[in-house]
Amino acid sequence: MHPDSLPTRYCISGGALNLIKQGKVRDLYSLNDKQLLIVASDRLSAYDVVFPDPIPGKGVVLTALTRWWLEQTKDIVPSHWAGNDREQLRALAAEHSDALPADLPERAMIVERCEVIPFECVVRGYAFGSWLKSHPDLEPMTPFETPLFTPSTKAEERHDETISFDVMHETLGDTADDLRDLSVQLFRFAAQVCRGAGLVLVDTKLEFGRNQDGAIILIDECFTPDSSRFVLEEDFDRGVYTSFDKQVVRDYVDQIGWDRKPPPPRIPAEIIERTIGRYRAVQERITGVHVP
Ligand SMILES: Nc1ncnc2c1ncn2[C@@H]1O[C@H](COP(=O)(O)OP(=O)(O)OP(=O)(O)O)[C@@H](O)[C@H]1O
Ligand SMILES: [Mg+2]
Repeated sequence: MHPDSLPTRYCISGGALNLIKQGKVRDLYSLNDKQLLIVASDRLSAYDVVFPDPIPGKGVVLTALTRWWLEQTKDIVPSHWAGNDREQLRALAAEHSDALPADLPERAMIVERCEVIPFECVVRGYAFGSWLKSHPDLEPMTPFETPLFTPSTKAEERHDETISFDVMHETLGDTADDLRDLSVQLFRFAAQVCRGAGLVLVDTKLEFGRNQDGAIILIDECFTPDSSRFVLEEDFDRGVYTSFDKQVVRDYVDQIGWDRKPPPPRIPAEIIERTIGRYRAVQERITGVHVP
């Protein structure tokens, strides 16, 4: 994370709310011993750098989609979100109108505070992205019979690194098996739902934590365009792999020759429009609901 490049819109500098972490996209506030407030901003990061231009509406879209998925997957694994937080969010927005955005109920969630398990649980249904780069012998989008679990470290200041399952197992023991099995099960479920919405779920990243009872719970965001790669089924079937995520931005910054090091370049309005259009398309197809 590069704090210098973070827009300050959602920063607070005091008051009763305690900002405990500003991630690339989300701001985490401590509400009490058991609960956190997670606010999804409109910030966009690519190549682990946060861009100065927000993508208006992105945080609301990510939150709507995450809420929807956490509801759908709760029988596979419980999550950090118990639902029913709108009233409390409305009250928080009113009480802290100087620090928190007015649309807080749409872009935030009140979640169970937990100990984050410091691995990213990446699951791939097809050979693409970084995995394909390290296996150039395979055709792009070769399907895996069983979704492939390719965990990575969760580095605070460096790029996340793919590690072997054995390395994860050395640190976590049997929990590593549990996380792999849960991740693959969640991926299979989500891929099937996506197919029904005319989308191919190519790959995703999940995060888990342990709650205060020691149970494994699904945390953070879930099957969003920030954490997953989606391709329209009709494109996929004709070999076109345009993904419905921040690829528009990545392509733009690559095309102008940015070296992927801060400071990041400005993003033209047209690229911002296309990006939010893709995020919305995924969220609307999956949930069937338009959000403001
Ligand atoms: N229930 C929870 N309890 C504690 N931490 C959480 C919980 N849910 C999410 N987090 C953490 O909150 C942060 C969310 O912020 P954000 O998504 O912006 O992070 P990030 O900069 O993208 O980093 P990452 O690549 O780890 O997601 C993540 O570090 C995530 O691990
Ligand atoms: Mg994140």
